[in-house]
Amino acid sequence: AIELAPIKIIKNPEGSMERSAKNGSSLAKEFKEAKINEEQAKQKESYSQDPLRKVRDEVTTLVISEWREKEKKTKVSFGKRTNLPIKEQRETLPVFSMRDDIVKAVRENQFLVIVGETGSGKTTQIVQYLYEEGFNQQGDQTKLIGCTQPRRVAAESVAKRVSEEVGCKIGETVGYTIRFDDKTGPNTRIKYMTDGMLQREALNDKEMSKYSVIMLDEAHERTIATDVLFALLKQAALKNPNLKIIVTSATLDSEKFSNYFFNCPIMKIPGRTFPVEIMYTKEPEVDYLAAALDSVVQIHVSEGPGDILVFLTGQEEIDMSCEILYQRMKVLREAAGELIILPVYSALPSEMQSRIFEPTPAGARKVILATNIAETSVTIDGIYYVIDPGYVKINAFDSKLGMDTLKVSPISQAQANQRSGRAGRTGPGKCYRLYTEAAYRNEMLPNTVPEIQRQNLAYTILMLKAMGINDLVNFEFMDPPPASTMVTALQDLYTLSALGDDGYLTSLGRKMADFPMDPGLAKTLIASVEFGCSEDILSIVAMLSVQSVFYRPKDKAVAADQRKARFHSPFGDHLTLLNVYRAWSMNGSSKQWCSNNFIHERSMRRAQEVRRQLVTIMRRFGHEIVTCGTKVDRIRRALCSGFFKNCAKRDPQEGFKTLVEGTPVSLHPSSLLFNKNPEYVIYHTLLLTTKEYMHCVTVIDPRWLPELAPAFFRASNPAQLSDKKKRQKIVPLYDRFSKDQNLWRLSAHAETKR
Ligand code: CDP
Ligand code: MG
Repeated sequence: AIELAPIKIIKNPEGSMERSAKNGSSLAKEFKEAKINEEQAKQKESYSQDPLRKVRDEVTTLVISEWREKEKKTKVSFGKRTNLPIKEQRETLPVFSMRDDIVKAVRENQFLVIVGETGSGKTTQIVQYLYEEGFNQQGDQTKLIGCTQPRRVAAESVAKRVSEEVGCKIGETVGYTIRFDDKTGPNTRIKYMTDGMLQREALNDKEMSKYSVIMLDEAHERTIATDVLFALLKQAALKNPNLKIIVTSATLDSEKFSNYFFNCPIMKIPGRTFPVEIMYTKEPEVDYLAAALDSVVQIHVSEGPGDILVFLTGQEEIDMSCEILYQRMKVLREAAGELIILPVYSALPSEMQSRIFEPTPAGARKVILATNIAETSVTIDGIYYVIDPGYVKINAFDSKLGMDTLKVSPISQAQANQRSGRAGRTGPGKCYRLYTEAAYRNEMLPNTVPEIQRQNLAYTILMLKAMGINDLVNFEFMDPPPASTMVTALQDLYTLSALGDDGYLTSLGRKMADFPMDPGLAKTLIASVEFGCSEDILSIVAMLSVQSVFYRPKDKAVAADQRKARFHSPFGDHLTLLNVYRAWSMNGSSKQWCSNNFIHERSMRRAQEVRRQLVTIMRRFGHEIVTCGTKVDRIRRALCSGFFKNCAKRDPQEGFKTLVEGTPVSLHPSSLLFNKNPEYVIYHTLLLTTKEYMHCVTVIDPRWLPELAPAFFRASNPAQLSDKKKRQKIVPLYDRFSKDQNLWRLSAHAETKR
């Protein structure tokens, strides 16, 4: 199916051609076997148009622990990271040659931009140099050197690596803070954290007085939090002359950062890269995943030594591909060398994370299946082959639809080049782009659109307002978000009653800002106190924040389904999650209980940890924690008060339609309301593939809507309605905002400014 020009020059024609042909067809067979029910069989037709959906709909999520068990049986042993002592390792990094220049530049400038290839040592080394040079000490005050990362995994894994280099336990000299996980202590001097966490710190400390230096790392990623931090840190540094700001980037858009920070100096770390041969497919791929996995096997059997890096779009896709590759390797066992298959994505458990950095044992080859996290955030040495299908999953906000959707989209040219660059770190490499050269030139945007221009800003605006920043139009965004996105976010906060008619935060809004989460969830948590079900909502919110807890091995699918059925609530998925959490707690949160019930223990532990952190926040701000016992209607009402905007009504024809825009949506096959016919539902998230799928769904009573969201819904006056509308009886207040002076004034301003 795939046509990769250079792979055709094969060293071992008979063997590998035959094998890859055989494996190509067995992939289809595996997909078929993994199919879980008639429903999905029916959907198969549309799979040919959207192969991704095929992957998504398979519920064969691989359990890492189980897969590791299998792997143990293959007798793979891992060597030490490398034989060089740590000191030498540090000194061979490109950034080391610049050590003194960097230290001097930081001493002499308040703002500094540093540019360097991924892997040159920016993240791990620069903060250490500053620590070694005493930048923590300001007179008799001891301060922190902070470094932000757009991703949790990067913050955690880099902090661990640096603590090894410094020679301390994590949480001592070197620590990290990510959401729901704080590993810092009184002796911490170097602190890694997600940009989101530093943004939250600005809530209580606008001048960042705890820090002597803050390094905004991976600035080229342009996450919302980093973009907001540009402005917040610029302000902080102007007020606090002792604060130094370093912005680091892996790409060359550094001029822009320098311009923003008063034309500050730019330092370039000399690169050390090898040429990468880039190959395109001749025809567009129909099934990029199959093509990617075919390429892995083909490279493994026919190309020289060197590890392979494959860019995929998400956890499910990666776990699934690991399983498929594992099965294929079993077939190939004798014919090909050992292939070590490693997944890399944000939700990866930490013991797996460290394994990706371990060198490949002699005679074996490593294949790393990663999300775009491996583009720049995480550097893996020894990669010679990169397979780039050209897609990335982004959380995009459609202000017309008024919805946030997870969408698989083509990457930008800049991203494509970052990806291919990964192959040239250790020696000359090869990059297989599973798209045509024409697609690269004509269909891909030159640069990635900053998140702030495509995502829902409700959370960000809530934070800014809580910091007392009300004049959003004059807030110094590097690239201001579109006015329509800003207005939608304000509307969202207004309908959640977080903003008043005057555009200022209400007391509810201020309370919502205390929770590091989506405003809808924060509202639900706060509302649950009034409804007397905060104990229960805490469990649900915690469960929503982890990956699926249900585990469904292919060979025991029936047993797993039977067990799952015991937790079913007729009201839907949220209450089912609660039932699981309650049952687990009542059974001593035991591991045994999890395996008996086909539940991922790791996800449960994570949910427990998230819950514990949320309880701390609830207590700190004096929110009562009470359970409603069996009065579960209260839970549904609490959910409804935060997620009323995600309401859908059953369509007489087919599926559902959202109440707000009338967008057709469907129940995801994983929902236990699938095949049931509830009238009104609310959903937690919407997943866009060929259809809009509602994920995690609960049945509600429509009469609650005007009651719980009076700024958004009103019960209509039957006398003034058409017959069709009479049947619906509830109309969203579309025109509510056109009457609202403040919101309109803001949008008019924003429009003229752009
Ligand atoms: O930030 P930048 O991409 O410039 O480089 P870095 O992340 O500081 O990585 C420098 C070196 O440390 C690379 O050779 C990585 O492989 C290594 N490293 C590691 O062994 N373990 C980590 N968790 C992170 C980096
Ligand atoms: Mg880095």
